[in-house]
Amino acid sequence: MLINDHFQNFKVYGLPKAQLVIADIPYNVGKNAYGSNPSWYIDGDNKNGQSKLAGTDFFDTDKDFKPAEFMHFCSKMLRKEPKETGTAPCMIVFCEFEQQFYLIELAKKYGINNYINLVFRKNFSAQVLKANMRVVGNAEYALLLYREKLPKFNNHGKMIFNVMDWVKDSNSEKIHPTQKPVNLLKTLIQIFTDEGDVVIDPVAGSGSTLVAALECNRKAYGFEIKKDFYAAANEWVTRTEAQGMLFKDPRRGGCRKEQVSLL
Ligand SMILES: C[S@@+](CC[C@H](N)C(=O)[O-])C[C@H]1O[C@@H](n2cnc3c(N)ncnc32)[C@H](O)[C@@H]1O
Repeated sequence: MLINDHFQNFKVYGLPKAQLVIADIPYNVGKNAYGSNPSWYIDGDNKNGQSKLAGTDFFDTDKDFKPAEFMHFCSKMLRKEPKETGTAPCMIVFCEFEQQFYLIELAKKYGINNYINLVFRKNFSAQVLKANMRVVGNAEYALLLYREKLPKFNNHGKMIFNVMDWVKDSNSEKIHPTQKPVNLLKTLIQIFTDEGDVVIDPVAGSGSTLVAALECNRKAYGFEIKKDFYAAANEWVTRTEAQGMLFKDPRRGGCRKEQVSLL
């Protein structure tokens, strides 16, 4: 279920508590969001002059994103810390490299005291315009944040490395400029949740997290304030939900099996 509202209004909706919150928070890169990226120019070529994306930010909502309100949301919406081990909830926050230090300290103020840093290795870089001048970035970063007990962990006997390959989706909807690959999200969801668990994305964008969660038979909830992103995302999420109902129909062989092998 995707809601067209600020996540700050979450209390109105009475959502169930989450085993996993996944959030790709606004990067606050301001008017330089497309810097070093070919989209700055028409057809990606500087001979053609600047495109309408030059000197713009990704979202006019970035300035409205308040990290403390986000952390408050997570502390309220994550399941309570359980007595037993092996079932604790956690959150995964995709963020800029520099944001990590601030978020680690901020999380502590909300009782989320522990972290593991995650790095996603791309085989491409968005900073292609600078490629002949300097080292360019090909990594995305995220923090796995949890209160005290280590989060639920379905590694099926395999080592899970904190550096993972970032594999682009070949056949997903393209709705959002910073859309995360569904297959990558599915891998994370399968590690940190079980079927039937609740996954929430408070800044859902394209709805990719909800689609990934639904495809793994998890319950999925999210918020997105921008009407146009919401409309396209909701269409994708609703279609995925409908397909899931078909899979859950016992006449069609019950639930879908885990679809993504662990890295
Ligand atoms: C970085 S994008 C998320 C992209 C998403 N992970 C994807 O794969 O498509 C962040 C999104 O959060 C939305 N947003 C920003 N502040 C919000 C708020 N307070 N409540 C709900 N959505 C918000 C923005 O409109 C933007 O679409």
